Amino acid sequence: MSAPVVSRRIVFSGLGALGVAAALAGCAGSGDSDGGSDAKVEPGAELAATGDVPVGGGIVLTDEKIVITQPVAGTFHAFTAVCTHQMLLVTSVEDGRILCANHGSSYSAESGDVEGGPAPSGLARVEIDVQDDKILAA
Ligand code: FES
Repeated sequence: MSAPVVSRRIVFSGLGALGVAAALAGCAGSGDSDGGSDAKVEPGAELAATGDVPVGGGIVLTDEKIVITQPVAGTFHAFTAVCTHQMLLVTSVEDGRILCANHGSSYSAESGDVEGGPAPSGLARVEIDVQDDKILAA
């Protein structure tokens, strides 16, 4: 049995990565980034390298529909990237907040709780394992 191939589009965001986010975000925020159903990834699937996730920021895995944050160095959290407002994908992580630019919702990068905007509830946590420099689905 071969290991699952994880295709991914990553939206980088956080301190100093806004240019990369703009370049990679592509259609994010344009309305065609429909979140659809929640993320489904195989346990053990590699989601990202720890070095991909900026401290104080995070990345949005658009294919997996997962947002991974690193509020402080060495502490990683993962949540569904499907905004609870209209089920579009969140767009970036900045200044300790997960942002959905579609209609202005924001969530804590630490807990996934709503911090602002029309989102009715927080982002569900996604379990991850950090092994060496890899972030794996749990
Ligand atoms: S879909 Fe995220 S704020 Fe509306």
